[in-house]
Amino acid sequence: MRKKIVAGNWKMNLDLDEGLKLAGAIDKYFAEKPAEKGQVIICTPFIHLAGAAGILKHGKIALGAQNCASEASGAYTGEISPWMIKSTGAQYVIIGHSERRSYYNEDDKILNKKTLLAINTGLKVIFCIGEVLNERESGNHFIVVRRQLEEGLFPLTEEQMDSIVIAYEPVWAIGTGLTASPEQAQEMHKYIRELLKGKYGNECAKKMPILYGGSCKPSNAAEIFSQPDVDGGLIGGAALKKEDFTAIVETL
Ligand code: PGA
Repeated sequence: MRKKIVAGNWKMNLDLDEGLKLAGAIDKYFAEKPAEKGQVIICTPFIHLAGAAGILKHGKIALGAQNCASEASGAYTGEISPWMIKSTGAQYVIIGHSERRSYYNEDDKILNKKTLLAINTGLKVIFCIGEVLNERESGNHFIVVRRQLEEGLFPLTEEQMDSIVIAYEPVWAIGTGLTASPEQAQEMHKYIRELLKGKYGNECAKKMPILYGGSCKPSNAAEIFSQPDVDGGLIGGAALKKEDFTAIVETL
């Protein structure tokens, strides 16, 4: 059985006080739950990580960053390396989010470098892929996703793939209120799993968690997550409210 995961991506929201309060509220909510439905992860801004690590004391919520440097240390003003992220107590890092790809020009090559560095540091990577609207409309979405996987992830060994969670996020659905239909999500997730099988074999393909992201909310999560190749979600806007985020986890 594959692991079900719901990861919150807070993006550049919440000041330190607000962020730690939200982390504490989420921790408390799950601490009182008898059984876990899946792995819950919160990916906070860098400045929240160390504080949140101290607050998530019930061991049910994992912590992640949203980006990392492509170098381990040195004269890179303003950057935060995977090693520093790990030292806060975080276990995950999101790499390749569409906002990093488009606003900060991160290409497949740099994303692969970051991924390898993060894995070698002992972090797990939530690796994001997904097409923009005109790529879908022109029927090129499979080609785009295939390229992102082949160049960003497939240089990894099968063993390194154990540290990867894939998030398929159609860019046209991120923060827009539009979601892929459950059928569109399933079709792409199945395709991703087939590519994994072709490259790494059945075992790797079967155990890889593939999350859906893009305007997930409590009202649509259950239907999307019930698709056979959808293993949970990467949640943006709805991760900023405890009620919405926990309600999404409850749909797993
Ligand atoms: P959204 O963001 O849920 O606000 O659409 C998802 C994401 O960007 O990871």
